[in-house]
Amino acid sequence: MATKLKIRVNEHVHEVSGSRDTPLLYVLRDELHLIGPRFGCGLAQCGACSVLLDGKELRSCVTPVAAVAGKSITTLEGLPALWARKRKSAGAAQELHPLQQAWIDVGVPQCGYCQSGMMIQAADLLSTTKNPTEHRIRVAMNGHLCRCGTYPKILTAIKRAAAVMAKEERA
Ligand code: FES
Ligand code: FES
Repeated sequence: MATKLKIRVNEHVHEVSGSRDTPLLYVLRDELHLIGPRFGCGLAQCGACSVLLDGKELRSCVTPVAAVAGKSITTLEGLPALWARKRKSAGAAQELHPLQQAWIDVGVPQCGYCQSGMMIQAADLLSTTKNPTEHRIRVAMNGHLCRCGTYPKILTAIKRAAAVMAKEERA
């Protein structure tokens, strides 16, 4: 059934139209032009489409847009503002999230297709677990697939970001 819905994405409220059953991923990419989340399997199996829903990782390819009305969605594009809010520093909203910076510093991506979902999952992990053990990181990232085999660099980048976040949150 076609309808209009209001959804909150990266702290902006958008009115979207179409079927209530349309996958959130399609709305993000096709209507809001947020291209961080990617279409991979379309079956909740790979994690390329992951976003945060009220801070928790969500597979947007299998989530009807109507299910997120009134909730807060964060995509890769919204991570800098999320980090700025956590630091209560509006002036820092233009800075990359420590995970994004670590990804660059470590040189994680190869083709890059999976990397938005990887950073989103890592953001979920680090929002609740400061300085996670390697085992904890491996468990958290287990449901995300990378055809290019960037897993060792992802591990390194998450540890690096965790250290930066712990240090800045203490400051
Ligand atoms: S595209 Fe959503 S999990 Fe693969
Ligand atoms: S970097 Fe290519 S699929 Fe992960």
